Amino acid sequence: MKINKICCIGAGYVGGPTMAVIAKKNPNIKVTIVDINEARIAAWNDTDVSKLPIYEPGLAEIVGETRGKNLFFSTEIDKAIDESEMIFISVNTPTKTYGKGKGMAADLKYVELCARNIAKVAKTDKIVVEKSTLPVRTAQAIKSILSNTGSGVNFDILSNPEFLAEGTAVQDLLNPDRVLIGGDSEEAIDGLANIYGSWVPQDRILRTNVWSSELSKLTANAFLAQRVSSINAISELCEHTEADVNEVAKAIGMDSRIGPKFLQASIGFGGSCFQKDILNLVYIARSYGLHEVADYWEQVIILNDHQKRRFSDHLIKTLYNTVSGKKIALLGWAFKKDTNDTRESAAIYVADHLLNEQAEITVYDPKVSEEKVQSDLNYLNTRSPEENKALLQSTDSPYEALDDAHAVAIMTEWDEFKSYDWEKIYKQMKKPAFIFDGRNILDKSEMNKIGFEYYSIGS
Ligand code: NAD
Ligand code: UGA
Repeated sequence: MKINKICCIGAGYVGGPTMAVIAKKNPNIKVTIVDINEARIAAWNDTDVSKLPIYEPGLAEIVGETRGKNLFFSTEIDKAIDESEMIFISVNTPTKTYGKGKGMAADLKYVELCARNIAKVAKTDKIVVEKSTLPVRTAQAIKSILSNTGSGVNFDILSNPEFLAEGTAVQDLLNPDRVLIGGDSEEAIDGLANIYGSWVPQDRILRTNVWSSELSKLTANAFLAQRVSSINAISELCEHTEADVNEVAKAIGMDSRIGPKFLQASIGFGGSCFQKDILNLVYIARSYGLHEVADYWEQVIILNDHQKRRFSDHLIKTLYNTVSGKKIALLGWAFKKDTNDTRESAAIYVADHLLNEQAEITVYDPKVSEEKVQSDLNYLNTRSPEENKALLQSTDSPYEALDDAHAVAIMTEWDEFKSYDWEKIYKQMKKPAFIFDGRNILDKSEMNKIGFEYYSIGS
């Protein structure tokens, strides 16, 4: 099946970059990304591409190249659905905050709204592609909504989960390990495989049934997060035994069966998906009565929460058991480098814990605005927005953040932090000057030589 027009509902971290790359690699296909969020669409349409709502290396260039030619951003959702042969659903699927499954299950209300909108508008046959991460068997619900329109329109449902990581989204999309397509209509699968086939080798385009595809996405994230929790669990043991977690990670990673990637001990994983997707997996397993399976995966989250908490506990303990009234500088707020995304960032929880102990915090992140930092904290509802604002400030200058601080805590592994003038910083800080390196990016012996009391994860 030849596709000429695509619509993607959801102009977020997945919809934006994925569709930009599809448009770049398929100049003959018109790609329209739609969203209910007018401000977000306006930002995607900003003539200054440095103001796009999402920061991803390489993205602004691709959007600059394709926008207005075959890539369009719009709030006219019905029009885009009506004119397209293929519709991607790439809306958010957060953890439920109410009702049955609260705190565990994925909230599918946005996905359902999309399905209902497609059902209402479609006058011709459509291929509907699940791009959002969804619980196994969600396609059944989408199918049921779409097949009860009475309009005679035929809908094929495909599952095509996205595996990009933020910060490397463009590279991941241009050179994916695999593209996964689950479905039962060969014709529809071919239609989507041809779109990817314009740049992805056919042997990397994997075809499965819909349910395997849906479950593979949750499983991939669970395995990745499990590796981080595994190495973080070992990091705590290292701290008690004089083993060094970086050395352990290197030693085990050289075993080709284990492999070297995703073994970086840290302050704990963040991001919008690992926690949400594992909670969802746990919820699904419990709902089938598989309690051992559920408990096994839940432990990945429990360990991650422990890692965040023990980082701030250690900082407080080292600062003579009190941080009250002390200036603490946080370098980084994003959940990883090269993104402006802060969802579930470990920094939010560490800051909240330190604020409970009446620390005075200054934050510097090269890509995260002061408003975002404040709204992340306010979202926790631990204290009033006024109190958060009084206790925590953001600055545009790292040296200002560090001036007169008792301690600096590195929350994100931004490359620029490594090249700072640490001798100058040492002179600016209160003595003893403490560094808590939550990402193990600085060199311990160099920092000790300058005079810092330096603590990293797992050594
Ligand atoms: P996001 O919050 O950045 O974007 C979702 C967008 O959908 C928002 O702009 C929102 O306004 C819009 N939206 C919601 N309901 C809508 C509706 N009814 N009509 C039109 N627009 C609507 O989310 P994201 O990070 O892009 O994630 C989207 C999905 O992709 C999630 O299921 C997520 O689990 C999955 N995923 C995310 C990543 C990632 O790195 N962020 C990677 C792989 C998969
Ligand atoms: C992750 C997966 O890597 C993607 O394949 C998936 O598509 C995506 O989730 C999703 O479904 O949303 P992302 O969360 O963007 O991507 O970023 P990761 O690189 O996986 O990092 C997640 C968190 O783990 C970050 O906080 C990172 O700092 C942390 N991490 C990662 C470590 O602490 N150590 C590591 O070795 C690797």
